[in-house]
Amino acid sequence: MAKLTQRSDRPWWRDAVTYQIYIRSFADANGDGKGDVEGIRSRLPYLKRLGIDAIWITPWYPSPQKDHGYDVADYMDIEPDYGTIHEAERLIKEAHAMGIRVIIDLVPNHSSDQHEWFQAALQAAPGSPERDRYIFRDGKGASGELPPNNWQSIFGGPAWQRIIESDGRPGQWYLHLFAVEQPDFNWENPEVHEYFEKTLRFWLDRGVDGFRIDVAHGMVKAPGLPDVLDRDNASAEMLAAQRMPFWDQDGVHEIYRKWRKILDSYEGDRMAVAEAWVSPASRIALYLRPDELANSFNFDFLTSRWDIAELKANIDLSLKAIQDVGAPASWVFNNHDVVRSVDRFALGLQPGRGETTLDRLGDVTKLDLNLGRRRARAGALLMLALPGGAYIYQGEELALPEVRDIPEDRLEDPRWQMSNRTDKGRDGCRVPLPWRTSIESAFGFAGTHTLSPEDCWLPQPNWWGEHCVEAQENDQTSSLNMYRRALEIRGVELGLGDGEMEWVNLGEDVLAFKRPGDFICIVNFGDEIPLPKGEILVASAPIRDLMLPRDSAVWMRIK
Ligand code: NOJ
Repeated sequence: MAKLTQRSDRPWWRDAVTYQIYIRSFADANGDGKGDVEGIRSRLPYLKRLGIDAIWITPWYPSPQKDHGYDVADYMDIEPDYGTIHEAERLIKEAHAMGIRVIIDLVPNHSSDQHEWFQAALQAAPGSPERDRYIFRDGKGASGELPPNNWQSIFGGPAWQRIIESDGRPGQWYLHLFAVEQPDFNWENPEVHEYFEKTLRFWLDRGVDGFRIDVAHGMVKAPGLPDVLDRDNASAEMLAAQRMPFWDQDGVHEIYRKWRKILDSYEGDRMAVAEAWVSPASRIALYLRPDELANSFNFDFLTSRWDIAELKANIDLSLKAIQDVGAPASWVFNNHDVVRSVDRFALGLQPGRGETTLDRLGDVTKLDLNLGRRRARAGALLMLALPGGAYIYQGEELALPEVRDIPEDRLEDPRWQMSNRTDKGRDGCRVPLPWRTSIESAFGFAGTHTLSPEDCWLPQPNWWGEHCVEAQENDQTSSLNMYRRALEIRGVELGLGDGEMEWVNLGEDVLAFKRPGDFICIVNFGDEIPLPKGEILVASAPIRDLMLPRDSAVWMRIK
């Protein structure tokens, strides 16, 4: 294995642990039941103490919130419910002063239907320059009453919506791969390119370190918008496991080549991370070529079951694919779109190929959350020891479970209505965070304000306080303290982060690998095993008599 080098030799995004903040649910500084920019600022000391390197903030732009910020009405401002540009700038500055980088979400596949361009398109005539910024087409059938093709929305139902023209008659259709209120941009139009280049510069000038690119595999559509061939498969999923005319088209790479030049024209290793649900790993690698994006989430890893063979195969394939383009890996187990890993790992199942509803994950009555928590903690040590960077979703450090009992009349995810109330959607992983045991401030979510847990934008369950930060602070065995310890070690162990790893055979139920610096990570999927000689740095479960129990992991320095 190679000698250790100073980590500062390489761009920060090759090793960073990035903490995803779902702004609406992180911390609420004004007591209105929704998180905000000042809430994030008030929790910077918590994030610093946790030991992460960067934060990614989900969309904070003005938005009608039909998809909770992923329907952007103005790309160069802040949602009034969340704060002001001035507050955003102050947050970026203060984060930087604490050594925390700031990544923001960019949503280039679609805007809100309230964006001024879309409103202008509705007023303008078919074939006008205003319409050409989006994907408008005439319908099929004698009077254009049928959608232009058979594409389906990711959230359910057809991906096309017919509009009423200004003369009061039914007219053209527009494409929306997501909610009806999220019209897709036309990336064949140079104006769209210029607009997003301007948006990038707007935020880079305000100091952001990078962008998380929403639906990064979706912006360019196949010429002629051909039907999806097999109607059964037309039901769209985010993961482009097979070629779809709206996913993973070659044209997206040209966009990223241009964006990389803009990022590189700024000081400080500015970056972008792709939300590209593409598989296999060799396709992800295309987004990570040296003149394209810096990171791309490893969704094959996220969709792995708690299964040694599956995880190992995925790690090998991913590392091989990205090695070919010289990119770092970006491991991830959780985000705001999938059932929390505590629940997934308890059931030993995948989150599904784009499906998020827990009911479809298996028999939820068999859910053993203690088992899930155990595995999630072991998984965290695995993820944080692997070569490259990692992304943690807020609450993952608390080993929060999914909230499965949100009353149906409080569900907010557009999936719920668009699937004709068959898919409860993603709200269960988006419930506002529990910070304190006190119920008066919505478990500390509302800071110093009085707020009932039910009055948060998504209601918090009455058992939420058990998992809160305050309860975990002083418990040395808590998940929070395990993450803190692991991140502290990661901060000083030069062999962690980007670099080499070597598998070690410790038995068929054991995933073990060495990193430079006599470091070993051992994850046990089977009956308890004796540990090798050495010093235990951190463990996911109590270790007795130097035996590593089932479903747990340890980091050691070995002799
Ligand atoms: C992916 C985002 O993560 C998800 O939350 C959103 O609904 C879709 N993109 C549409 O923007």
